[in-house]
Amino acid sequence: MSRLPKKHRIAINGYGRIGQSVLRALYVDPRHSELQVVAINELSDLDTLTYLTRYDTTHGRFPVAVANDGSHLLINGDRIRALNEQDPENLPWKELDVDLVLECTGTFTDRATAERHLASGARRLLFSQPADAEVDATIVHGFNSGDLQPGHRIVSSASCTTNCIVPILDLLERHYGIENGVTTTIHSAMNDQPVIDSYHHTDLRLTRSAMHSMVPVDTGLHQGIGKMMPALSGRFECLHLRVPTINVSLMDLAINLRRPTDAASVNTLFREAAAGPLQGLLGYTEEPHASVDFNTDPRSAIVDGTQTRVSVGRLLKLMAWFDNEWSYANRMLDVAQVWLNLAGE
Ligand SMILES: NC(=O)c1ccc[n+]([C@@H]2O[C@H](COP(=O)([O-])OP(=O)(O)OC[C@H]3O[C@@H](n4cnc5c(N)ncnc54)[C@H](OP(=O)(O)O)[C@@H]3O)[C@@H](O)[C@H]2O)c1
Repeated sequence: MSRLPKKHRIAINGYGRIGQSVLRALYVDPRHSELQVVAINELSDLDTLTYLTRYDTTHGRFPVAVANDGSHLLINGDRIRALNEQDPENLPWKELDVDLVLECTGTFTDRATAERHLASGARRLLFSQPADAEVDATIVHGFNSGDLQPGHRIVSSASCTTNCIVPILDLLERHYGIENGVTTTIHSAMNDQPVIDSYHHTDLRLTRSAMHSMVPVDTGLHQGIGKMMPALSGRFECLHLRVPTINVSLMDLAINLRRPTDAASVNTLFREAAAGPLQGLLGYTEEPHASVDFNTDPRSAIVDGTQTRVSVGRLLKLMAWFDNEWSYANRMLDVAQVWLNLAGE
């Protein structure tokens, strides 16, 4: 009798928008069937956690029945241990034999914190954000997943915006050369913004109602570009606007190219890449879309060919849609699967 292959054992720390998207993605998309969530740690009670798994305003109802038994989330015959622990050092990762923690709180961003999860018995940790410079690697799946090594312990999946822009810049750099650029991310609201004006510790703009204004906020995207593509370091200025929608964002790029081109040639480049080597990660469309059309789209970027413009041969304006939650959750799972298969765990 053939035995089913052992699945990699994942724990989610921080069950907010990204943590929930990660779990849901595992149940609706068979691509990550080698991964299994065995525990979720969240600073909320299990009934609320169950409810927020079952119903989701952004992505709809969970595709299968969700219940709990007082200590575990029960999904499709799977028992997922529910934990409510602030301090990573108290998490039972050793007892649960956790191969990888997906660190999705947004609270912990440095190697020292990540090592507290390892001290609790997890074998590896993947950050849902750029994290500090001390991580073993920062991976944009489809660009540098080949840099992952079995010996890596603490890795970052970069940001959703970095995952969107890097495949685009890589294509443009290889085909035309990039002199410099300016980007604006038009990003849906996030949970670090209040519904109505409220206090925020560090950023005055984040005191303002998410549902009533377009709100410019700081971004580290220029650093993300420089980290992934050192040849472009210092060549990009990046802006970021939060807008009153609940999901899906738009990357707006203005780039000075080294070699001249026109809009039709740029669109051909992206259309062919989307149908070829970057299929599944990069999309291309000429349909008349609005952002909601890309809700629950797993691709890192979908270039909107109707918006491509080239001014006097070298100044390119390009727009790309991305589901900031769903695409990123899927990229985390991509990185996790590649990494754990490599490590043989
Ligand atoms: N949302 C996106 O589009 C997106 C895309 C890519 C990357 N990211 C990154 O992913 C991270 C999380 O973002 P998010 O949008 O998912 O935020 P979120 O919805 O606020 O989720 C974070 C969750 O972590 C919980 N948490 C905080 N401290 C914790 C602790 N010590 N132990 C366990 N749980 C804890 C929070 O609980 P409380 O609410 O009770 O504090 C919250 O439910 C951020 O770094 C963000 O930049 C987000």
